[in-house]
Amino acid sequence: MRSIALYTLLSAAILAILILFTTYAWPHVPSNPWQTVNSHSNTNTEGEQRVKIPVTHQDWTFDHRRDARNYGLSEEQCNAAFPLLYKEIDRAVEHRKRIGKDIGIEEVEVRQRSNVRAMIRDNQLYVVDAHGENTNFRPRTLATLNSINRAVSAFADPLPDVEFTATFDDDAAARDSNATTLAYARLPEQEFLWLMPDFGFWGWPHKGTNSYAEHISILDDQEEEFLDKIPKLVWRGGIGNAGGDVRKKLIAQSEGHEWNDAKSVNWKNQTEVQERRLSMQEHCDYMFTAQTEGNTYSGRFKLLLNCHSVSVTHKMEYIEHFHHLLQPSGTYQNIVEVKRDFSDLPKVMDRLLQPENLKGETKRIADNARRTFRERYITPAAEACYWRALIRGWAEVQGFTPERWVDVPEVEGRKARRKPRGVPFEAYTIMETTQEWEIPAPMRHVCAVGESY
Ligand SMILES: *[C@@H]1O[C@H](CO)[C@@H](O)[C@H](O)[C@H]1NC(C)=O
Ligand SMILES: *[C@@H]1O[C@H](CO)[C@@H](O)[C@H](O)[C@H]1NC(C)=O
Repeated sequence: MRSIALYTLLSAAILAILILFTTYAWPHVPSNPWQTVNSHSNTNTEGEQRVKIPVTHQDWTFDHRRDARNYGLSEEQCNAAFPLLYKEIDRAVEHRKRIGKDIGIEEVEVRQRSNVRAMIRDNQLYVVDAHGENTNFRPRTLATLNSINRAVSAFADPLPDVEFTATFDDDAAARDSNATTLAYARLPEQEFLWLMPDFGFWGWPHKGTNSYAEHISILDDQEEEFLDKIPKLVWRGGIGNAGGDVRKKLIAQSEGHEWNDAKSVNWKNQTEVQERRLSMQEHCDYMFTAQTEGNTYSGRFKLLLNCHSVSVTHKMEYIEHFHHLLQPSGTYQNIVEVKRDFSDLPKVMDRLLQPENLKGETKRIADNARRTFRERYITPAAEACYWRALIRGWAEVQGFTPERWVDVPEVEGRKARRKPRGVPFEAYTIMETTQEWEIPAPMRHVCAVGESY
């Protein structure tokens, strides 16, 4: 009798272990986390088509052709597909722990006109306060809130409740230098900033990129083989204002060389704009794309990194959420870095263009960039994974619980009740305000391009 009981216990234990193991089996982490390993085909040994999006499947590997636009990968899949993606989040969490003080409710006040205060509660986005009220910040506000909403609503599992601010200035710390907020870029010493994906990961239609995903689709359809591209260094942009310093040096150092196709554009001169302007996809017709900072970081960098080309950049001051993956040397070299004044550019270009290098070292840099960025770390799927990891990271050091309700006082005989705090994103995206609106609401004023409001 006793041995039967023992056997029952033993087999129950084994079964439990087996179930646990199957349920929590970790998807394969690629042996080389920099690049997509496409050795796994889409079909299994029986030749059947695999389930399209396996949820937790120990044989799942990220395949950019199938998964790049999947905004709802599970946490396990996100970790397996993008093991090196989350460095900036870990850094921000570590910084907070080092200070020894969790994020307080008083730190999530809206402080400037480019700021939004938002909350995620029960996997839904709410806007608590919004100040994205000019022609520069309004598209950024809408783009970023939509990106967050996409990453949150596509996800099947619970996310922690968080409340935070996001700042849409090129330089989030310009006016209020120590605010703990989500930002598009930071300087190395601005450790209090939490990097979020830039608004262009949603779209930048007023600068010619209808959506980030469409940019990639057009390249997939139309991009030439690397060796068939124009063997020149391309750049277009204004040199008058922001970043004029490095930009003028790029023009000066390129002047007179056979490989030069760097041209300044005076955006106020329509003749010049018509003559010189290139779409982002046209930049990818070139073997070499130059990258320069502007006000702070460069909004086009991630678009150019999607080209199967060699990015040539000066040493940068500002950090975006994916910059730690840029490799200026070594086996996985994926960009070419020159001095901030571009003084070594001619020498570097001559080496890259040597016929024996073009097919070898130079093409390898473009191949590495393509595998590391376009096919993995800056895919739309990776962007969504990053947002959710950011939410989890923030929650880890959030020292308060977001308030869920506000009391509504009794009016005109209607009984007092409470209502959810903040405006659900669904309403915000239509009304673009967090103020109470009348019912029926008057027609909303819609701004035209160039109009300040
Ligand atoms: C920001 O933090 C630094 C270092 O802790 C401090 O010296 C500086 O005064 C702070 N600035 C503001 C505006 O709070
Ligand atoms: C506009 O640009 C064209 C082409 O670069 C140039 O020839 C022309 O002088 C410019 N016009 C003005 C008003 O600057």
